[in-house]
Amino acid sequence: MPFRDTVIVARPRIVITGGAGFIGSHLAEALAEEAKLVLVDHLRPGTRENAARSVELGATLVKRDVVRGDLAQLFRRVDVVYHLAANPDVRLGKPGTRAHIEQNVVATFRVLEACRTCHVPKIVFASTSTVYGEASRVPTPEDYAPLEPISVYGASKLACEALLSSYAHTFGIQAVAFRMANVVGGRSHHGVVHDLVQKLHRNPRGLEIIGAEPGTSKSYIHIVDALAGMRAGVRAASAPFTVYNLGSEDAISVRTIADTICDELGLRDVAYSWTGGSGEGRGWAGDVRAMQLDLDRLRATGWRPAMTSEQAVRKAARDLWARLPRRPGR
Ligand SMILES: NC(=O)c1ccc[n+]([C@@H]2O[C@H](COP(=O)([O-])OP(=O)(O)OC[C@H]3O[C@@H](n4cnc5c(N)ncnc54)[C@H](O)[C@@H]3O)[C@@H](O)[C@H]2O)c1
Repeated sequence: MPFRDTVIVARPRIVITGGAGFIGSHLAEALAEEAKLVLVDHLRPGTRENAARSVELGATLVKRDVVRGDLAQLFRRVDVVYHLAANPDVRLGKPGTRAHIEQNVVATFRVLEACRTCHVPKIVFASTSTVYGEASRVPTPEDYAPLEPISVYGASKLACEALLSSYAHTFGIQAVAFRMANVVGGRSHHGVVHDLVQKLHRNPRGLEIIGAEPGTSKSYIHIVDALAGMRAGVRAASAPFTVYNLGSEDAISVRTIADTICDELGLRDVAYSWTGGSGEGRGWAGDVRAMQLDLDRLRATGWRPAMTSEQAVRKAARDLWARLPRRPGR
């Protein structure tokens, strides 16, 4: 299937699903001045506050559920769809497995169908390092196989990638997927850095940490580095379907994360208590023990992350803390 003609548009029309979420709202701010932007989000847990800056810069925020709402009306004459709306929690929550299948697989299918019927030439997708499962090769390159996710979240995202590839080859919609490590920043509302900062805000003397000391070892990338990587990859991608790893150049343990956060917040002698997790050093069933991504493919575009995992965690902790109400006497 040949590509649709790529037309260089002076001010492209871009839709960002999940545009009021953590990554989506930062992406929207980065693109708002150069594109006609529509952010589609059902605002759970995305917020109008996250989207406020890009709306000020001219973006339109539409409250809509991509699993149920009409998308065709929003996708007409659009040049690129960034599809970020998803259930981003690797850990299974109360809604169980259904949330990942509906919010990730069904949502992506609906977004792709709307791209097809509205002739959108390009889609960019937020995938995840968890598609690799417990890879025997770390740092893990994009062509690592076999892909055996150990979480339903990872499986759902891998299914989305497969759909993207098929729509690229069958319908000529160019697709770019980023397999992201843990992305951290002040607007994040899930993951270990957010969890530990929230707990320390409630009790600065004791800290419950999920897992068994020293915890898993993973790569953490700051939102600023992640956005720069996404933009470099999108510019460079020329194949029908391109996958890029996106992470930092190292990995750190949960113990180092806890120490870094306490140090950054000026908290001394915090008593750690580890929950024990689900055995074998995992925080919970489906938690990968060691994750670091081979970045050569994205580095070839000229991009490289400016921050190490520790620097990214430190900055995110500072920004998360600054958003919390001040505690009396502190
Ligand atoms: N944050 C990370 O560490 C990380 C790592 C790898 C991949 N990702 C992926 O990046 C994307 C963004 O993640 P995030 O951390 O910004 O999470 P987020 O929850 O802040 O953003 C997701 C946004 O999508 C919206 N949304 C969810 N389901 C929707 C639906 N059915 N219809 C409309 N809107 C919907 C939410 O309201 C939210 O604003 C997700 O696809 C996630 O899986 C995130």
